[in-house]
Amino acid sequence: MPPTIRPRRLRATAPMRRLVAETRIHPAQLVLPMFVAEGLSEPRPISSMPGQVQHTLDSAAREVERAIAASVGGIMLFGVPQQKDAVGSGATDPDGILNRATAFLASRFGDATVVQTDLCLDEFTDHGHCGVLHGDGSVDNDATLVRYADMAIAQAEAGSQLLGLSGMMDGQVDHVRAALDAAGHQGTAILGYSAKYASALYGPFREAVDSSLTGDRKTYQQDPANRREGLREALLDLAEGADIVMVKPASLYLDVLADVAAASDVPVWAYQVSGEYAMVEAAAERGWIDRDRLVTESITSIIRAGADTVLTYWAVEQAEWLQTRG
Ligand code: PBG
Repeated sequence: MPPTIRPRRLRATAPMRRLVAETRIHPAQLVLPMFVAEGLSEPRPISSMPGQVQHTLDSAAREVERAIAASVGGIMLFGVPQQKDAVGSGATDPDGILNRATAFLASRFGDATVVQTDLCLDEFTDHGHCGVLHGDGSVDNDATLVRYADMAIAQAEAGSQLLGLSGMMDGQVDHVRAALDAAGHQGTAILGYSAKYASALYGPFREAVDSSLTGDRKTYQQDPANRREGLREALLDLAEGADIVMVKPASLYLDVLADVAAASDVPVWAYQVSGEYAMVEAAAERGWIDRDRLVTESITSIIRAGADTVLTYWAVEQAEWLQTRG
């Protein structure tokens, strides 16, 4: 008997496939992470992230203009300071590179896009950890919360509209929310990097921010083996008042993302991290894969799994393709 049920009917032509697509990418769902470095006169390429650079303030402004022209949803700023110390003083200094870049870009572009900041100490500490340390070298959770609170206020005062809490300290959303509210910043939103795994995929990022980390982050970031725990972390952030929750990395953690998307009553984001970017770029450089197709396929898959928004280094390029190719 020939089949009567033929799913291939809906795949027969490009217009038909377009008509029945279950997942679409909209430029507003894409957020561009950007690195702004202190003391540069020219943007500096990041060798393990071909096409990405450490920006000067001026080159950052040009990139934000391009992002706005492509209608991306927002930009996420990381700072690369020249000086580091044990407590990450540069993170709370209003003249520190991240706060300066935030003020510069938020004052120019805050009406046209959402200027967001990464809130974590690792770029600013000489030991490279996301928090301050006990005498024995372990990360001191509660002393770190005090630093995060000050950092949050500095970023809010610089004009950041959304603070990305990426340090994986216990209680960080609750603590930062209380500090922001007490300082009159009730309007500043919190993005919890809620389910953040201790991943080898952050390798290129360490070059991007000139990280001084030796060792790993396994006492605060999650074990890649744990799915249930990812959901638990997201539920904790929701209970602590996170405005948005995020899963990171994205592609290897789509199961966690789907779990969080099913349970969340706030927007759910995913971060397609530096290693996800670098793997595709490296294979494409060798001619081993079709780069542009894989970029779109990867972002589509992250949205299909449940992300409302994707942080991706391809945000502008993907958004420009949507403008030209539909
Ligand atoms: C911490 C932070 C990291 C990334 C974003 N925020 C590094 C880490 O946790 O080790 C990684 C992003 C990427 O790899 O693209 N400030």
